[in-house]
Amino acid sequence: MRFDILTILPEMVSEGIRHSIIGRAVDQGLIRVNVVNLRDHTEDRHRTTDDTPCGGGGGMVMKVEPIARALDGLASQGPMGRVLLTDPQGSRFDQPMAEALAREDRVTVICGRYEGVDDRVRQHLVTDLVSIGDFVLTGGELPALVMVDAISRLLPGVLGWDEAAANDTFSGDLLDYPQFTRPRQFRDCAIPDILLNGDHVTMDKWRRRQQLLLTRRRRPDLWAKARLADADLKLLSAELPGAGDLELAGQPALDKCMD
Ligand SMILES: C[S@@+](CC[C@H](N)C(=O)[O-])C[C@H]1O[C@@H](n2cnc3c(N)ncnc32)[C@H](O)[C@@H]1O
Repeated sequence: MRFDILTILPEMVSEGIRHSIIGRAVDQGLIRVNVVNLRDHTEDRHRTTDDTPCGGGGGMVMKVEPIARALDGLASQGPMGRVLLTDPQGSRFDQPMAEALAREDRVTVICGRYEGVDDRVRQHLVTDLVSIGDFVLTGGELPALVMVDAISRLLPGVLGWDEAAANDTFSGDLLDYPQFTRPRQFRDCAIPDILLNGDHVTMDKWRRRQQLLLTRRRRPDLWAKARLADADLKLLSAELPGAGDLELAGQPALDKCMD
C-alpha cells in the first residue's frame, strides 16, 4: 500500500515513520510512505505555501496552488484513490475507517497548518475531510502519522502475527482483555492464577468474560450495541473457579498496583 503525505514539515513525517513496526513495514516494502514537501511545488523565490486570510483576521492560510501542483504530480504517477484533508471539522477517524482505508491501494493525506487550508482544496481537490478527534492541533502531521500507523498495522504481514489486530479493542464489539507478563507477583498484585495453569479452554473463557465485563463497565456506549452470543450471556453469569474478575476488583485495585 502506498501513502503520499503532503506537508510543509517533511522531516516530522519521515521521522515519525522510521521506528518500530511501521519502520520495519517500510523497510520490508509492505508499505510505501512518500513524503511530499509542499515547498517543492511553489514557484516563487521564497517558496511560499501560505498567505494572509482574505477578509482579514489573524494568522495565515495554506495556499491552494502548491497543494494542487503536488496532487497533479502525484496523479501523473497512477490512480490516486482517496485523498484526505486533515481537518478538525472532518469525519471522525476510527477503526472502521482505518479498516476501509486499509483496503485501498493508495491513500493521500494533506497536512494543514496555521489557521487551516484555503477552502477550495476541500471543494475541488479532496475526497474526504478527516479529523482524529474533537481537539485542535497545530498541524495535520500528527493526524497523518496516526492514520498511517492505524491503517498499516491492519495490512497482512505488518504485525508479527496477523490475528493480533483481529483481537484488538474496536476490531469487534468488545474491548480487548487485560494483558499480563512476568513477574507473577508485583507488590501485592498477582497475575490471575487462571492465566498460569495451562488450561487454555478455561483461560479463553476468562479472557472473553473480562472483555464482556470491561466493555460493560468502561464503554457503556459500545456495550449497548454489542452483539452477544448465547455463550457470552452464559459466561457473564458463570463462576470460573480460581478466576478473579478484574472488573470486580475495580479501579482502586489498579491504583494500588501503581503506588
Ligand atoms: C490549527 S488547525 C486549524 C483549525 C481551524 N482554524 C479550525 O478551527 O477548524 C491547523 C491544521 O491542523 C490540522 N488539525 C488540527 N486538529 C486536527 C484534528 N483534530 N484532526 C485532524 N487534523 C487536525 C488540520 O490540518 C488543520 O488545518
